[in-house]
Amino acid sequence: MSGSDESVARLRIWRGEQREAGHFQEYRVPYRAGASVLDALIWIRANVESGLAVRYSCTNANVCKECAVRINGRVEYACTARLGGEPITLEPLPSKRLIRDLVTDIIPPGERLSNLSVDGNQTP
Ligand code: FES
Repeated sequence: MSGSDESVARLRIWRGEQREAGHFQEYRVPYRAGASVLDALIWIRANVESGLAVRYSCTNANVCKECAVRINGRVEYACTARLGGEPITLEPLPSKRLIRDLVTDIIPPGERLSNLSVDGNQTP
C-alpha cells in the first residue's frame, strides 16, 4: 500500500466485547483502487491497532467465508467488498454471538467442541 496513486480511506469500526457497551472508532487507511475492506483491516492490525479482532483465513479467495461482517448495514465478505471514497462503517454480524470487535461466533451449534466428547461423538 504505497505509491503515487495512494489515497486515504476512512473506516468507522465497531469495537468492544459486549454489544451494549461497544463504541465506534475511526481509522484512516492508505489504499489503492481495488483494495478490499479486508486489506484495510489487515493494514490497521499491522500498523495501528494490533488488538483489533478480525477473522479471515483465505484473504481474497472468497472460500473460507470467515470474514463476513456488516458493511454499511449490509452483511458482506470483507475480502470481496472494495474500499471507496466514502467512509465505511463496519460492525459485527447482527444475529451471531459477539466475541469481540468484528468477530462473532459463526460455528454451527452442533459443531462446537464443547458439544463433543473426547472420542469426537456428540454429547447428550
Ligand atoms: S477471507 Fe475467506 S472468504 Fe473472505
